[in-house]
Amino acid sequence: MHNSHAVINRTRGSKDLKLADCKWPELADSFIPDWVYTSNAVYEMEVEKIFRGKTWNFVALSAEVPNVGDYKRSYVGATPVVVSRAEDGSVNVFENRCAHRGAEFCRNGQGNAKEFICPYHQWSYDLKGNLQGVPFKRGVNKQGGMPKDFRNEDHGLLKLHVTERNGAIFASYSSETEPLEEYLTPEILVDFDAVFTGKKIKILGYYKNELPCNWKMYHENLKDTYHATLLHSFLVTFGLLVAGQKSAMIADSVHGRHGTMCSAKSEDKYAAVSEENKKEMRSFHDDMVLKDERFLEYRKEVDSPWSVTMQTVWPNLVVQREMNTLGVRQIVPNGPDSMIMLWTMFGYEDDTEEMTRHRLRQGNLMGPAGFLGLEDNEAMKFVQEGLRRSSSDRNLLQLDRDNVGTTTSLISEAAIRGLYRYYRNVMGFNV
Ligand code: FES
Ligand code: FE2
Repeated sequence: MHNSHAVINRTRGSKDLKLADCKWPELADSFIPDWVYTSNAVYEMEVEKIFRGKTWNFVALSAEVPNVGDYKRSYVGATPVVVSRAEDGSVNVFENRCAHRGAEFCRNGQGNAKEFICPYHQWSYDLKGNLQGVPFKRGVNKQGGMPKDFRNEDHGLLKLHVTERNGAIFASYSSETEPLEEYLTPEILVDFDAVFTGKKIKILGYYKNELPCNWKMYHENLKDTYHATLLHSFLVTFGLLVAGQKSAMIADSVHGRHGTMCSAKSEDKYAAVSEENKKEMRSFHDDMVLKDERFLEYRKEVDSPWSVTMQTVWPNLVVQREMNTLGVRQIVPNGPDSMIMLWTMFGYEDDTEEMTRHRLRQGNLMGPAGFLGLEDNEAMKFVQEGLRRSSSDRNLLQLDRDNVGTTTSLISEAAIRGLYRYYRNVMGFNV
């Protein structure tokens, strides 16, 4: 009896689970079924309904393609795309898949080109993705070649819709996605615009890492204020985010799919942590001090009550303002149990040399091995491992149970609950 129970449950969490068997647990706001993180069928449906659905996907910063002919390889969901600046100044996004036999033709991460030439049979495309040339189109010696009715205009690269706000470029497969401003909602726009102010951006560097976990866990992690007060030694020890501090988890009020985790750094050198709270936090280290105090210096540069805002913009973007460390992270899903994270760190063109040094120094907080980043990678890996190889089939979401969406308590899962309400809707998983 016990054995058969275990077998059934293992199927529920498996890669091969069929959509028809995906039933959301009752008390839908209180549980997340394992199969959202493990099933191939669910993942394929996410690609269709989310990444190729009515969403704006971050693809690049305008500062990465400032001049005509500049291009960058990027992704919409897991689909490779190219972001290219054409002669008329427009930004174009098209699939990195040759219209001939499907080769991923653009091989360099970034560069400048007059046209794109596929290495396989050298079909060429202009900077907007239109097919220009087909070698031996008319054959040789009147033999072979393309049929007479073949028109280049019908065989360009697959083009996506493109939009931009203050230097952040987004693409969509759908022509029905609402304008970006509406898509982001007023709640999210405030802090988005505090980073993308319209000032010219200066790229400071890149990180790239793979996380052996489902891509949605990254969204959850940045909506999970509870872990922030517990997991991150650096955060709690140096008073960047501690229980009781002025903070909020703001969800967008339209769908609950985006969020901003905000906190205000205390004026004290290190925020005071009460003895009672210390007892709850095993990651707190009373005896740790910084050798370089400049590391945590916050130079107020925007009109915002928050010194830290971590934004999750559905479905693939994180906008990070951790004091003076600015950056974006692009989530590239890679099957149900893996994701690639592409980090771009930046400042502004008009930063002084000293400010750039400050941003770079403080940048050590972030990145795959950053003082605030490394524990998340480990924790998400542990979750994927735990649910991949166990006989249970769901996880629990009951902190601050009656709340959904925005919350001012850190000890809450309200924003994650809101995200999954939206997710169930889009995916058709309503109970
Ligand atoms: Fe690109 Fe043939 S696959 S030219
Ligand atoms: Fe974290």
